[in-house]
Amino acid sequence: MQITKAIFPVAGLGTRFLPATKAQPKEMLPVVDKPLIQYAVEEAYAAGIREMIFVTGRHKRPIEDHFDTAFELEYELEQAGKLELLRTVQSIKPDDMECVFVRQPKSLGLGHAVLCGERLVRGEPFAVLLADDLMVGEPPVLQQMVEQFAALKSSILAVQEVPAEHTRRYGIVAGNTVSERLVNVQRIVEKPAPDAAPSRLGVAGRYILTPAVFDQIRAQPRGVGGEIQLTDGIAGLLASERVYAYCYEGKRYDCGSKEGFLEANVELALRHPQIGPGFAAYLRTLTPQIAD
Ligand code: G1P
Repeated sequence: MQITKAIFPVAGLGTRFLPATKAQPKEMLPVVDKPLIQYAVEEAYAAGIREMIFVTGRHKRPIEDHFDTAFELEYELEQAGKLELLRTVQSIKPDDMECVFVRQPKSLGLGHAVLCGERLVRGEPFAVLLADDLMVGEPPVLQQMVEQFAALKSSILAVQEVPAEHTRRYGIVAGNTVSERLVNVQRIVEKPAPDAAPSRLGVAGRYILTPAVFDQIRAQPRGVGGEIQLTDGIAGLLASERVYAYCYEGKRYDCGSKEGFLEANVELALRHPQIGPGFAAYLRTLTPQIAD
């Protein structure tokens, strides 16, 4: 079965980036020249997904506008003969991509945000992408997971090894090793303290989930932080279905933190075909200043 739909929970307040996120969604913060949410949508599109479901909240209009036609802008670019820029703007939403927006009326947690997309998912397995996690991989990380899903036909969570002192930032999974990159999950815990963590495999913000997860999210009591947690719903799923953790090939930038966001900007700028070489030369001029 093909994965055709992805949920993007984008209702969060972005408090970690205040004041930058006072009047704009954190998902619209740019890494080099594209907003975070565009990276996540492009990753889903590259994985064959065509229906993008955004779970939004108040003040998230710029995300809707970003994936909508900008008639005036396109007209002016065309009149000015700026055709490459016109193509750049138009390619944000390819014609065969559909964007659907649903509101999360209250900030009740990631599990609740995913539940808001339930009716739009229409009983099919689906992907969840957290735009805060910018993933760089070849093939793109979600595509790697879709390929795994074709064989496993079960829920799959992207994981990576995290430092012991960071377990409180992640859902942590433990289970039986199936192959080099696959673990058959037996336990999953949201944000455990290092001494309570069942392993050091932390969940990154990419999931492929079967629709059975919705009932499980509903069945769980409030979890960490008093929120309805996606991790707890996945834990509930373990009683009735297999769930796999997939150690993706690639790199994750935690753009929910200032450090990760800056790292993403520096590394992606270095790789950027137009500005990369000049930016590298600039960084080299700084090395005397930052050498300790
Ligand atoms: C969420 C999930 C967590 C996961 C993380 C990945 O946490 O609840 O299980 O490991 O995303 O980024 P958040 O970062 O939203 O607090």
